[in-house]
Formats: sequence, structure tokens, C-alpha cells
Amino acid sequence: MQGLTTSIRAAAIAVTMGAVTVPATAASAPPPGATACSGCHGLRDNASSVLPGIYGRDPQEIVTAMAAFHDGTRPATVMNRIAKGFSEDEIRAIAAWLATQK
Ligand code: HEC
Repeated sequence: MQGLTTSIRAAAIAVTMGAVTVPATAASAPPPGATACSGCHGLRDNASSVLPGIYGRDPQEIVTAMAAFHDGTRPATVMNRIAKGFSEDEIRAIAAWLATQK
């Protein structure tokens, strides 16, 4: 019970922080490309996924990671190619939307 309350609070803080740094375009409808991410990435606490969860996280973390994949400074197997398919604005919109997902 305690753990659940804590994680709900952490999620609320992450979303609140996201609203400060990301344009308020994070409606409930996923922006273009965002639904493709779930083909590989599971939920944040999905123990059955070997990939890092990208949902419900601080949008700035996602934007930073995607930028590094995009310019090749972060080594990757597939994410560098995927990141190249999106503009900075699209990534920001996707990150903002992902942050609202549980
Ligand atoms: C084809 C499978 C696949 C798809 C689709 C995919 N990813 Fe990934 N993602 C990966 C893999 C694999 C990694 C680990 C890095 C690597 O090897 O490329 C990763 C890593 C990441 C990371 C780093 C997370 C961390 O905490 O280290 C982010 C952020 C990310 N992906 C975002 C996205 C977003 C946003 C989308 C949708 C636009 C997406 N991914 C779609 C496979 C995928």
C-alpha cells in the first residue's frame, strides 16, 4: 500500500515537472509515431520486458536519450535509426505523451 502510494506520487511529480519543460500539447491522443514505441518498449515496471520502459518517465530524459541516439553520440542497435526518423518537435511531443502514460 505504501509502495503504491509512493509510486503514484512519483508519477504525479514526473508529470508535473513535464508540464513545465514541455509544451502543453500533451493531449490524450498519441502524437504521430508514439504508438510505434510500444512494439518494443513495455511499461516502466514491466519486468517481462528486457528493454528499458519509456512510459511515465520524465520527458526530458526521453528527449535527451533520443537526441543522443539521433546524433550518434549514444551507441545503439536500433534506436539510432528510429531516432533519425523524427524531428525534435516530434520527439518532444512523443516524450510529453509518453510521460502521461502509465
Ligand atoms: C524495434 C524495437 C524498438 C522500437 C520500435 C523502439 N525502441 Fe526504443 N529502444 C530499443 C532498444 C533495443 C533500445 C536499447 C538501445 C539500442 O540498442 O538501440 C532502446 C532504447 C530506448 C531509449 C533509452 C531508454 C533508457 O532509459 O536507456 C529510449 C528513450 C527509447 N528507446 C525511446 C523510444 C521511442 C520514443 C520509441 C518510439 C518512437 C522507441 N524507443 C521505439 C528498441 C526499440
